[in-house]
Amino acid sequence: MARETWATRTGFILAAVGSAVGLGNIWRFPFITGQEGGGAFLLVYLLFVALIGFPAILVEFVIGRYTHLNPVGAIRELGSGVWNHLGWLFVVTGFVILSYYSVVAGWFLRYTLIGVTDGYALSGADEAGALFGSVATGLDSLLFHAVFMALVIGIIAAGVRGGIELGVKVMVPAIVVLLGAMAVYGFTLDASTAAYGYYLSPDFGTIATDWQSILPAAAGQAFFTLSLGMGVMITYASYLGEDRNLAADAGVIAGLDTLVAVLVGFVVFPFLFAAGIEPGAGGPGGIFVSLTTAFGDIPAGRVLGVVFFGMVGIAALSSAISILEVLVSYLIDEVGVDRLPASVALGVAVFLLGVPVTVDLIFLDLFDKLADGILLVLGSLLLALFVGWVVPDAARAELGKGIGDLGSLGTAWIWIVRVPIVVVVLVSLYLGIVDYADFLTGDLAEWLAAR
Ligand code: TRP
Repeated sequence: MARETWATRTGFILAAVGSAVGLGNIWRFPFITGQEGGGAFLLVYLLFVALIGFPAILVEFVIGRYTHLNPVGAIRELGSGVWNHLGWLFVVTGFVILSYYSVVAGWFLRYTLIGVTDGYALSGADEAGALFGSVATGLDSLLFHAVFMALVIGIIAAGVRGGIELGVKVMVPAIVVLLGAMAVYGFTLDASTAAYGYYLSPDFGTIATDWQSILPAAAGQAFFTLSLGMGVMITYASYLGEDRNLAADAGVIAGLDTLVAVLVGFVVFPFLFAAGIEPGAGGPGGIFVSLTTAFGDIPAGRVLGVVFFGMVGIAALSSAISILEVLVSYLIDEVGVDRLPASVALGVAVFLLGVPVTVDLIFLDLFDKLADGILLVLGSLLLALFVGWVVPDAARAELGKGIGDLGSLGTAWIWIVRVPIVVVVLVSLYLGIVDYADFLTGDLAEWLAAR
């Protein structure tokens, strides 16, 4: 059977935007921005997306379109020797990320439903914290994790055109419209002036004193939010039927992803300031606790809450499908399994791997710090070294297809991949490993000792 392709170029772009826009933009971005000092972080982050993220998207696009294969097969076809065996990293990463991504996405589905059935009228932060506790682990968490994975499997089983492309044509515009409407509402709140001030005025003093934590956090966020490091963009580009301008596509994708992340700040910070809540508090559960408290407090909070949590659920779905698609394309290309059984078998396996996260949140840290801090970074390192040093000429030629003569821009791109990207990624990898070792010997050891 012929390999599947996108029906339209718009379909490809929307699928990549759908993958990029997800929990990373909405759940991770506001709390990292809050933690790292607001405007100062935003500025560094924007620079990283443009200077490092954009060229890194092209690395994956070029590999995918050149080989028309899944990431594992693509690396095997292009490389030799030890490279032949490195592609499995992407499969492992995909399993780990999707397993907890689905659990967190399930929380957003649950919170949407809570708004519909009960509203968010809570007595304050304590009650909001207790609610989060009951949603995050236990039977509810397991159930909504299952529902979310069932949706992901359903879309992926329906194929590139009938599932992914159709799905993102509905989901991506919905996300942008809902966010835009909420940002306008946020603007009408009295607290918006204070919130914008916090969000938009970079304090250069903060950058100077805190750069050691701001730089790696901004780099990590840039890679995660653009879905880099595990072959999603390789896989999506492998379904391109004809040679278009990949650089233009990557620009649109990075631009839209950034627009959404920035818009989320225009939604979340006015809501929090309106309810008098400090941004950046409380880590992963913090946004649920602070936002439900805010939705209980501000005018039309219940409707806003349902729209907000529902929108996040949609964004998470359009990202999660891209991760399962990497695994499924591997089984289809390399093992010759049909799409339907491949989708169901891999989806169920991912579901099972995520079950421990629904039992105890220590597993969320265990998986997230491993995937986000180490595996994804390692994947990006591998791809940058591969394109920059192993197959630079083929890569440059492939990028030129659909663009024309690249001139010195092609060489500039290769050198950005060879040195700055590799350096940034190596520093992030070092920090990720140190952080993970701390976690294993600290929090995890404590948790085990308490058993
Ligand atoms: N980019 C998505 C987000 O911001 C998450 C995501 C989807 C992802 N696929 C990925 C992250 C692959 C890293 C690698 O939520």
